[in-house]
Amino acid sequence: MSSLKFVDDMACIQRSVAQCHDQAGRRGMVLDVMQPQTGEMVLEVGCGGGFYAYEVARCVGPTGRVCAIDYSANQIDTAKSHCADMEWVNCRVGNASELPYENSAFNTVYGIQVFEYIDQLDAALHEVQRVLRPGGRCIILSTDWRTAVWHSNQVERMQRILTAWETHSTAVVPIPKPRSGHFKLCS
Ligand SMILES: C[S@@+](CC[C@H](N)C(=O)[O-])C[C@H]1O[C@@H](n2cnc3c(N)ncnc32)[C@H](O)[C@@H]1O
Repeated sequence: MSSLKFVDDMACIQRSVAQCHDQAGRRGMVLDVMQPQTGEMVLEVGCGGGFYAYEVARCVGPTGRVCAIDYSANQIDTAKSHCADMEWVNCRVGNASELPYENSAFNTVYGIQVFEYIDQLDAALHEVQRVLRPGGRCIILSTDWRTAVWHSNQVERMQRILTAWETHSTAVVPIPKPRSGHFKLCS
């Protein structure tokens, strides 16, 4: 699964972060790439508090379906209440490496800032392929924060954040290089 658990305080922090302007912008960018259509079947892997699932569900509408899984029950509780007004959203606890869905069930499968936490990455990618319909869309967004260059005038605060990140980053599985065989570059 993953050595990092998004429960209690961590799940709570995630919810606050999701409200930030930058995060809202990123959701918009993902929707632009995904182009979810009315009536489509969509799966979100590692849905957290359901902020992406909510926006995707508004696009596919009641003739479509959004399934969202996360292995943290805390996150799923939040996702359920966040998407409660859309009965075509189904949120459940589950593991990305053993997706509880039929073959070729989805037009789109996506995971935002989640695949870098999955220990069994190969199994998870095989599962994504299995549940995707032929010609389906897969969107995986995993920022490689090791490449971030940052300087702030508030040096002390910046250092505290960098130190905290070092602890967090030990739980992150290094993202495979594009040519490692996991992914191929496309235009
Ligand atoms: C950084 S959060 C991102 C949440 C959400 N995608 C977002 O961007 O708001 C990573 C999420 O992935 C979930 N997760 C990590 N490993 C998982 C696995 N093997 N199967 C399912 N969910 C997993 C965590 O519980 C957590 O909610």
